[in-house]
Amino acid sequence: MSPTAQDRRTWSQIAANAATLAAGFIAKESKTRDTIVWEEKSATDFVSRVDIGAEEQIRRHFATEAPDIRVVGEELGGGGTEDGLVAIVDPLDGTTNFLHGYPQYAVSICVALDGVPQAAAIYDVGRGGLYKATLGGGAFVDNQPIRVSTRSLPARALIGTGFPFKDQGSAAQYLKQFATLTPQVAGLRRAGAAALDLCDVASGRFDGFWELILAPWDLAAGILLIREAGGRATDLEGNDAPIRAGPIVASNGVMHDWLLSQLAT
Ligand code: IPD
Ligand code: CA
Ligand code: CA
Repeated sequence: MSPTAQDRRTWSQIAANAATLAAGFIAKESKTRDTIVWEEKSATDFVSRVDIGAEEQIRRHFATEAPDIRVVGEELGGGGTEDGLVAIVDPLDGTTNFLHGYPQYAVSICVALDGVPQAAAIYDVGRGGLYKATLGGGAFVDNQPIRVSTRSLPARALIGTGFPFKDQGSAAQYLKQFATLTPQVAGLRRAGAAALDLCDVASGRFDGFWELILAPWDLAAGILLIREAGGRATDLEGNDAPIRAGPIVASNGVMHDWLLSQLAT
């Protein structure tokens, strides 16, 4: 099956509607944040009924509107992300931020076919804004087109990042990259929701971003958004980033080779 532009627009609208439902639920739950019980997936990784409730809402929406799409979600599973028609779902990206009331958290959904992102929606719950993209159809926030920055000078660049905090195996590599980049750029930022970091690249607020360990649901929708906004999303070697767990380097395109070269040092 080869999807048409109309198929992709339909999937993006279904993803956007599902993300909007989940975002409404998360926003409502944030009003009683103090009553939320934190459960530990690991010592530094939390989940609550809000993550799970949001994923349940998304699953119900897809089951009604697009029963042919298999849903793979962070909290409730669903199999691999690289075969068949799948919706790859992070029901609440930035859980730690949400639990603290730090307004940087989102819902991220990507519809992919055999590992190729086709349609995406990311709802920025904390700050507002619904990001959408379709393969070949551009990238938008609240229906307005978005574009990556045109900045090429490292000394003026604002670069986003994510710290390795669950698995310290890559800490030494990360700290070396951090030390290399810090003196060369205008600023580094770690805001704590990878899907929104990727929206920041796609919208031109960040000129680049890297993180060494991400899950498919953290990056799938953002990768499509960045490519459709004119940027690049790759692995550390410069190959197109696959929709699987691993590192990501994203940029406005102009700065990509420079960023890769610095991360390799
Ligand atoms: C996390 C956030 C964070 C990133 C982590 C992710 P979660 O997602 O995106 O920025 O550094 O690697 O796991 O757990 O809040 O959905
Ligand atoms: Ca996440
Ligand atoms: Ca999550």
